[in-house]
Amino acid sequence: MKNLSIFIISILLIILICLPTPSLSKQNACNKNDEKTLLNIKKSLGNPNILASWHKTLDCCQWDGIYCTLNTGRVTDVNIFSASDNISAQFPPEIGDLPYLQNLALINLTNLYGQIPSSFTKLTRLNSLAITSTSLSGPIPSFLSELKNLMFLDLSYNKFTGSIPESLGWFNRQVLYLSNNRLTGNVPKSLGYVNFTKVDFSENQLTGDLSMFFGSNKTIRVAHFFRNHFQFNLSEVDELPESLWDLQLDHNKIYGSLSAAFASESLQYLNVSYNRLCGKIPQGLQKADETSFFHNRCLCGSPLPACS
Ligand SMILES: *[C@@H]1O[C@H](CO)[C@@H](O)[C@H](O)[C@H]1NC(C)=O
Ligand SMILES: *[C@@H]1O[C@H](CO)[C@@H](O)[C@H](O)[C@H]1NC(C)=O
Ligand SMILES: *[C@@H]1O[C@H](CO)[C@@H](O)[C@H](O)[C@H]1NC(C)=O
Ligand SMILES: *[C@@H]1O[C@H](CO)[C@@H](O)[C@H](O)[C@H]1NC(C)=O
Ligand SMILES: *[C@@H]1O[C@H](CO)[C@@H](O)[C@H](O)[C@H]1NC(C)=O
Ligand SMILES: *[C@@H]1O[C@H](CO)[C@@H](O)[C@H](O)[C@H]1NC(C)=O
Repeated sequence: MKNLSIFIISILLIILICLPTPSLSKQNACNKNDEKTLLNIKKSLGNPNILASWHKTLDCCQWDGIYCTLNTGRVTDVNIFSASDNISAQFPPEIGDLPYLQNLALINLTNLYGQIPSSFTKLTRLNSLAITSTSLSGPIPSFLSELKNLMFLDLSYNKFTGSIPESLGWFNRQVLYLSNNRLTGNVPKSLGYVNFTKVDFSENQLTGDLSMFFGSNKTIRVAHFFRNHFQFNLSEVDELPESLWDLQLDHNKIYGSLSAAFASESLQYLNVSYNRLCGKIPQGLQKADETSFFHNRCLCGSPLPACS
């Protein structure tokens, strides 16, 4: 009896081992045009070590940082992250020749320079674009507005200059991160019509008004505007979006006072320090940290010292 069961188990094991393993590479055999484009990108980037796996001996859907659609082998994702700082090249314009691209991330390529090429307008399926911690410079191109499916745009930690293009507000977006660049000028009013969930413009030199992001029927949850030159009357903001739970306005030139709207229970993180605010902090913020309010012109009342 015991011998029989061992025999059966052995047979089962042998059958299992001999079954052909399902071949993934066959399922998403890389599209030849996409393979060629990726090899051109690799060449443009100077054949860096981090792209060593990008080689014809392996199906391109298996290369590091590359994902394809299962059936057609079209490249949908390109992710290039580098900690070793070895790529010194212009932005590869060949990126525009990946017509099925949905997600592109180029992160920590600190010697990648030049501008965002206009070939980007061909990436009509692009849903998410992250170019962060590079040396890309020049303006944030207004042609990015042609990418109607672009919901997530992260261009933080680069060297972009000029103002935020008005056209970025023409289509819906969810996330817009532009922090730590050298952006100047006013934020275009058009951005007030976009149903953002997260916006980060911190650490630039932006000026003017932010009131287009406030109001009761907005969807914004996280809004980081600290360390800029924003200058407007906060008294006029008497309604905040119910969705808003993180608002950081510190280190600007914002004046006026805090309306009762700022004591909303949904607002978990608020920082208005280092501005030019005055008047009494509204009821309901007594438990907040005083560093959220300090260094203003004449803001007073708990958690700051009492008003005189
Ligand atoms: C940089 O890339 C070159 C080849 O392009 C390679 O010889 C060198 O070892 C790399 N350096 C680092 C730090 O990875
Ligand atoms: C980028 O570099 C920073 C510091 O060198 C590191 O903390 C971070 O994890 C890197 N990010 C990626 C996506 O490689
Ligand atoms: C934001 O959402 C509202 C309501 O759903 C919609 O009417 C409006 O068109 C959206 N805005 C954009 C820029 O798509
Ligand atoms: C939001 O409010 C503004 C003015 O208060 C109004 O013009 C707009 O139609 C509202 N949008 C939605 C989606 O309700
Ligand atoms: C700010 O707005 C409030 C309310 O509209 C107004 O009373 C106040 O005079 C304004 N402050 C300045 C400096 O314009
Ligand atoms: C508010 O911002 C100031 C200035 O950046 C900072 O020193 C302080 O710690 C912040 N407070 C909170 C509660 O985040």
